[in-house]
Amino acid sequence: MNDTVVVDDVSKSFGRSRALSGLSFTARKGVTGLLGPNGAGKTTLMRLLATVLAADSGRVRLLGWNPVYDRLEIRRRLGYLPQEPAYQRGFTVFEFVDYVAILKEMVDRRARHDEVRRVIGEVGLADVSGKKIRTLSGGMRRRVGIAQALLGDPELVLLDEPTAGLDPEQRLRFRALISRIGENRTVLLSTHQTEDVAALCERAVVLKDGRCVFAGTPEELRGVARGRVWQSPRRAGVLSWRTGEGDFRNIGSPPADATLVPPTVEDGYLLLLDGDKVEAAV
Ligand SMILES: Nc1ncnc2c1ncn2[C@@H]1O[C@H](COP(=O)(O)OP(=O)(O)O)[C@@H](O)[C@H]1O
Ligand SMILES: [Mg+2]
Repeated sequence: MNDTVVVDDVSKSFGRSRALSGLSFTARKGVTGLLGPNGAGKTTLMRLLATVLAADSGRVRLLGWNPVYDRLEIRRRLGYLPQEPAYQRGFTVFEFVDYVAILKEMVDRRARHDEVRRVIGEVGLADVSGKKIRTLSGGMRRRVGIAQALLGDPELVLLDEPTAGLDPEQRLRFRALISRIGENRTVLLSTHQTEDVAALCERAVVLKDGRCVFAGTPEELRGVARGRVWQSPRRAGVLSWRTGEGDFRNIGSPPADATLVPPTVEDGYLLLLDGDKVEAAV
């Protein structure tokens, strides 16, 4: 397969704090989910891929280009939704997206306006195009952020926690939108919602302490917890919580007489993050 994103042994520090520590992974066309707890390095990685930051060491190739030498070539083919976008809240949706389009060097006014209308339609905001961003709900504002990331039909789309703060209905609409976008592009989205990854992503990458601790399909991530999740009337295992039915769901090394239950993607993820603790407790 053709890897559109190659990250090889990349490190990045801020002062004495190491955000990325010998990180390696690859991505290709389709939707790849970047999972990891707060502080794992997801945003740092996104900013690096968006060519906002440079790596201290290691190699990066994006769409065949090297960000050290070909930053402009990459930026022309890139859409980026930062974790905390700076919206011009007094602008209308149209004005804001148009403003980003100008920054993206779309100089022909008519072609630019057509493109702005196209991406606003793509995220389902045509009806509120003339409304001020300040008056929109959080979910709509998030879609404005996605719209600007789609300007110019980029080959690589980076979305940093696009589902944070969305309600379940908005999250469903969002998934439909992203899977459409991922049909012919490379989409990398960071999240700490394993359901997003299970529902939407062809591949998952799990970051922990600035390293990649897993790369594979959501099904393979689920497989990490196979044979290690069981239900019992009492608390057991290293991770354990009471379910709605009153029993405890336990993750770890099951006792011989345990009633094993099928693992979820979240079980696999939790086991990867807390694996050291799980092993230590056996
Ligand atoms: N600009 C910065 N200055 C100092 N430390 C930073 C900066 N950006 C990130 N970090 C640190 O790098 C680590 C990874 O952060 P981040 O990439 O934001 O993780 P995530 O997005 O997964 O929560 C954290 O320890 C964070 O405090
Ligand atoms: Mg982040």
